[in-house]
Amino acid sequence: MPAYCPYSKFQVGACLLAEDGRTFKGCNFENASYSAGICAERCAVANAVVNGARRFKAIAVVGSTAVAWPCGICLQVLREFCGPDMPVIAGAFGKGYRVRTLGELLPEGLTPEDLGVNV
Ligand code: THU
Repeated sequence: MPAYCPYSKFQVGACLLAEDGRTFKGCNFENASYSAGICAERCAVANAVVNGARRFKAIAVVGSTAVAWPCGICLQVLREFCGPDMPVIAGAFGKGYRVRTLGELLPEGLTPEDLGVNV
């Protein structure tokens, strides 16, 4: 996965499995203005959405040296398109993985339904 991470050197790859069976990859890409960087998970979501996929069955995330649990912003972005039961598989390269549901990681995420929107 071609992560662009010259500052942290922490490579992260994410892969979203869409309901239609397609997969969408993402990597982290950092920026000299640090806060402008984007995590691998949001990169994968953008990749999926631009290709017409909005419903997902699972996401896998792998960090190069440590388990890469999605950050709070990525969990909220995932919650826009995924239910609380969706599995989040987080691993470290060569060190195994753990599985939690999106709802376990973000129990009270704001949803489109909370704002009266059906997507
Ligand atoms: N990062 C991700 O891409 N996903 C995660 O789940 C954890 C952190 C990235 C952001 C930044 O480029 C680097 O890892 C160090 O935090």
